[in-house]
Amino acid sequence: MSDTVTLTINNQTVVVPKGTTILNAATRVGIDIPTICYHPALTPPAVCRLCTVEVEKQRVLQPACVVQVAEGMVVHTNSERVQTGRKVILELLASTVDLHDAPEIQAYLQTYEADPARFAGGVSRQAQFDVFEDNPFYIRDYSQCVMCWRCIQVCADDVQHTYALTWGQRGINSHVATFFNEDMPDTTCVFCGNCVGVCPTGALKGVIEWKMEQQLD
Ligand code: SF4
Ligand code: FES
Repeated sequence: MSDTVTLTINNQTVVVPKGTTILNAATRVGIDIPTICYHPALTPPAVCRLCTVEVEKQRVLQPACVVQVAEGMVVHTNSERVQTGRKVILELLASTVDLHDAPEIQAYLQTYEADPARFAGGVSRQAQFDVFEDNPFYIRDYSQCVMCWRCIQVCADDVQHTYALTWGQRGINSHVATFFNEDMPDTTCVFCGNCVGVCPTGALKGVIEWKMEQQLD
């Protein structure tokens, strides 16, 4: 049996090892698929859905960061249906989360001509959270959090095995939290900084950088 899979991505024939995700297969041939929650060093949680692509004969769009290629698969990474999905995801995100410090996501908003004003007036995360300034090393500003799970995963099984972070609340109130909402110094956190390093927005930031920003405002 062959260890490779042949598929078509945007009319281009691609041959990749079995087990490759659609995202990695596309990257190999220079096709960019936008991502937010995906990080190459972490287990993909597949929660943002920005990477979804159209796979022929599949009823719904498929998340490219986790779906593996299959023999004969026909993938369209930028069809009209895909673009519409991405536009709405970005509009919903930008209408509730402060993305001023997330340049990559800002660029996606431009690319997909997203208009967050279409969803203005909904629940804003800015109004829900004060900045956590509970340790000398980094701040947590969940009004800027896109809930990508990266910080939780890097703190847990993927890298650090510290388990200082978890998921708090449900629905519109859900957010990253410490267990029992303890201040960070009272948790198992060892202040390794990995969570700050993988955060795609300004939600986690070194205290010095944050204080300098406050002075400039
Ligand atoms: S704090 Fe940053 S890394 Fe953690 S879930 Fe929010 S956006 Fe993602
Ligand atoms: S990058 Fe695939 S679901 Fe987020």
